[in-house]
Amino acid sequence: MRREIFPPFNEVTVMAKFRRIGVLTSGGDAPGMNAAIAAITLHALDENIEVVGINEGYTGLINGNITVLDRKKVAGIWKKGGTILGSSRCPEFKTEEGMKRAIATCKEHQIDAIIAIGGDGTFRGATDMSRLGFPAVGIPGSIDNDITASDYTIGLDTATNTTIEMIDKLCDTCDSHSRCNVVEVMGRECGQIALLAGIATGAIAVAIPEVPFDEDAMLERIREARQSGKRGMIVVVSEGMDPVGGVSFGEHLAHRINTEAEVETRFARFAHVVRGGDPTLHDRLAGAQMGVMAVDLLLAGKSDLVMCEIDGKTTPVDISFALISDRMYKNKLKPGDLYAFTPEQLEDMKALVEKRKKEIADYNRIANIVAK
Ligand code: ADP
Ligand code: F6P
Repeated sequence: MRREIFPPFNEVTVMAKFRRIGVLTSGGDAPGMNAAIAAITLHALDENIEVVGINEGYTGLINGNITVLDRKKVAGIWKKGGTILGSSRCPEFKTEEGMKRAIATCKEHQIDAIIAIGGDGTFRGATDMSRLGFPAVGIPGSIDNDITASDYTIGLDTATNTTIEMIDKLCDTCDSHSRCNVVEVMGRECGQIALLAGIATGAIAVAIPEVPFDEDAMLERIREARQSGKRGMIVVVSEGMDPVGGVSFGEHLAHRINTEAEVETRFARFAHVVRGGDPTLHDRLAGAQMGVMAVDLLLAGKSDLVMCEIDGKTTPVDISFALISDRMYKNKLKPGDLYAFTPEQLEDMKALVEKRKKEIADYNRIANIVAK
């Protein structure tokens, strides 16, 4: 994998000197977003650039809901979960009218560039702004770790640690009552939280959307474990699994374990709880590194890039490259998606997709080994 910036094919000419950068958080919040906000603010202020926080994601950009950020405002936020700026999902921003209003807000408040922290939807918004000539870069903030081009998205570590902590507590009561508990965790189409938490808690089975799941093998494993004296058991299910017979996949599994493996089973949905909490070192560090790089790139005249973590190094990647890599990974490529890329970029893209698939397969192998 090449280490330099993946060549942006849609590079936007950026003014040499910024006066004001706007930062926003959008989509699902994630622990560590505040670290990114703090790092952006402190670094930009050192460069004599003002920073404004756009409240409530793209909604705030459309409505002109902004706050000036200074050293005092970001001083205590490193340890805080969530995002001090608030977040939202803003369908209006996807419309031409919404986008025009957002750019008008930037002009009115003398904002020269935007740093958007969020997931792939958020980056679509940022790339749209870039293509209209307004400098914008992205930082991946999502507990799901669902940006194929980046090994990491801010929030995964905290969310997974919280998941582990909650499963550990469930294990206590499962052991006491000789029960199984099926646990459903967030992650949309990405099973990383489930997979990592399943390994770290020795779950008897982990079901994720990326890998076919053998229900009968799970039932057999549970029967065997019970016969050999195992009392408490945990099955971790990612929310992206398709429902069965009108109920969620997790509830369906719980029913089958109850009736077919004859192990008393409960179902728990952790949902948004794991999105909260104080960020871990990993998330604070990723936020700080990506935040600093985002400011550096804007100052260097770059736009339309997303900060990725590739093999432990913060690496800027063209947003379109990142978005299309996701489609390639999910087998959702549309006609024409690949036309704009050079053969070398396509090679890089395929390598990232293969790397992600291998990572999931390797983790899945470990999950199966520890599931005893
Ligand atoms: P995430 O960023 O976590 O993937 P969403 O998919 O909900 O979360 O996207 C966050 C926001 O980004 C949306 O509410 C919308 O304002 C903006 N957005 C999403 N998709 C697009 C798009 N295709 N074009 C412009 N903006 C978009
Ligand atoms: O993308 C982050 C995420 O927490 C997903 O894991 C989950 O499916 C979704 O957001 C939940 O969205 P909302 O906060 O709108 O319920």
